[in-house]
Amino acid sequence: MVSNYSNPEYLSKNQYEDPTNLNLRRALFDFSVPKVSITDKGLNYLKLKGKENILELGCGEGKVLLALRRNNHKGRLVGIDVSKGMFANAKKFVREHGIKPKIEFMEGMADSLEFPDSSFDILLSFYMLYHMPGIQKTLVEWKRVLKPNGRILVATNSSENREKFHRFKKLIGKLTRSQSPPNFSSRFSLENGQKKLEKSFKIIDSFTYEGRVILHEPQPYLNAMESYRQVFNPVPSTKAWEKAITVIKGMIEKEIKIKGYFVDKAKTGFFICSK
Ligand SMILES: C[S@@+](CC[C@H](N)C(=O)[O-])C[C@H]1O[C@@H](n2cnc3c(N)ncnc32)[C@H](O)[C@@H]1O
Repeated sequence: MVSNYSNPEYLSKNQYEDPTNLNLRRALFDFSVPKVSITDKGLNYLKLKGKENILELGCGEGKVLLALRRNNHKGRLVGIDVSKGMFANAKKFVREHGIKPKIEFMEGMADSLEFPDSSFDILLSFYMLYHMPGIQKTLVEWKRVLKPNGRILVATNSSENREKFHRFKKLIGKLTRSQSPPNFSSRFSLENGQKKLEKSFKIIDSFTYEGRVILHEPQPYLNAMESYRQVFNPVPSTKAWEKAITVIKGMIEKEIKIKGYFVDKAKTGFFICSK
C-alpha cells in the first residue's frame, strides 16, 4: 500500500504545494555545528567539468540548478518535481532574467521520465528518493536515462538525524491524539539506502556528516514542527496543537536553562554511484 508520505498527490497538496514547509525545516541547517552544505559538498565530490547534461529529480526550489548555471555550467540542466509550486519562482526567474542556456523545469513523476535512454551524464537527487512510491522501480528508471559512464548522487538523512525532534513529533501525536508522520527518510536512509542502491548501481563514494543542532531558543524547532502540522492525521485542532507545542517549548527551554543550550543530533550525507 502506498502511504501518504510516498503519495505524490497527498504530498503536493499537504506538504510541498510551495516551498514554505521545506524552508521551515531547512532553516535548521543554519544551527548545525559544524556548518555544512550537503549540496555544495556533493557537487564538489562530482568534480563537474561544466559540460555535463544534468537531471535533478525532486528539484524543489531549483536552487542547485540555478547555482550551477550561475557558476557557468554550460551543459543541459533539467529539474523535475511532482509539485510545480516548488519550482515556480525559479522558472519565473529563468524566464524573466533570460538565463541562457535556459534551465528546464518540468512537472512530473521521478519514476517515469520522458527522456530517451542514456540522456544524462549526472543525476542528482537531494532528499527525495524516500518519497517515491517504488524506490526500486525509480532506481531502474534513473539507470535507464543515465549514460554508461554517468554518475548519480543520492542524498538522504541518517535514521539518527534529529532524534529529539522526531521524539517531540511523536509526543505531539500522543498529546493531540493524532497520528504523527513518520521520519520521512526512514524508507531510504543512510543506513538502509546502500542495499537498495546496490540493486541497480555500484556505489563509488559516499559522505556522512555528523554534527549537532544547537539552539539557544526554541523557535527554530517549533517552526520546523509547524511544517509537519498538515501531515498529522487527523490534522490537530488549533487549540490542541498549540497546547502540545507549549509542552515541547517547555522541554526545550528547560534544557537551555540547565545547559545554556539545547542540542540534538545531526547526521546526513550522500552516496555517489555509477552504472
Ligand atoms: C524534501 S523535498 C527536497 C527538495 C530539494 N531536493 C531539496 O533538497 O531542497 C522533496 C521534494 O521531492 C518532490 N517529490 C516528492 N515526490 C515526488 C515524485 N514522485 N516525483 C518527483 N518529485 C517528487 C517534492 O515535491 C519535493 O519538492
